[in-house]
Amino acid sequence: MSSVVVLISGRGSNMQALLDAEVPVAAVISNVPGAAGLAIAEKRGVPTRVIPHADYASRESFEDALGLAIDGFSPRLVAFAGFMRVLGPGFVERYRDRMLNIHPSLLPAFPGLNTHERALAEGVKLHGCTVHFVTADLDHGPIVAQAAIAVRRDDTAASLARRVLQQEHVVYPRAVRWFLDGKLVVRRGAVSVKGKDAQLVFDDSP
Ligand code: GRF
Repeated sequence: MSSVVVLISGRGSNMQALLDAEVPVAAVISNVPGAAGLAIAEKRGVPTRVIPHADYASRESFEDALGLAIDGFSPRLVAFAGFMRVLGPGFVERYRDRMLNIHPSLLPAFPGLNTHERALAEGVKLHGCTVHFVTADLDHGPIVAQAAIAVRRDDTAASLARRVLQQEHVVYPRAVRWFLDGKLVVRRGAVSVKGKDAQLVFDDSP
């Protein structure tokens, strides 16, 4: 079955971009009750589940429940879209080679939070986002696609976030589609795509 389970914690704009691109989303699962993305998914007739991490005594028991919910939809791929939980080795192993994440920086620069603020503080001239396979190493893992934008003199964290997010919505559906089409080849930690599609999008519009 060529479907995707999307994990969210909040707004869900990347999830929406996947739906807009007609990615076959079997379900959307949130660890946060009331996450805005849930309502968007429901409106579009996509099944949703809430597995509140706060209800579980340990990370392992939360991840067991999450895994059960995911497996109920038998997805080929688990796509993280603003899912704000650090996952343990057991979960990572369970879905090894079939979990993708989108991160708002050009990895390996700026893993973790507040990426736009940190990019500005470092004075980088190029910023962007990365789609990567999820490994046990937070915000690391084989890079599937990146979108880069030129940083402008007058950029703020908010303006960077806005332009990077636009690019996230371009590259994430593309990367998910490559996965589902069996086009991704991972060799010694580096990903290539069968065919002629570019793994880099560069937007240097003024
Ligand atoms: C995005 O910036 C994504 O890169 C990061 O979290 C944010 C989620 O936004 N992992 P949304 O919920 O998809 O709108």
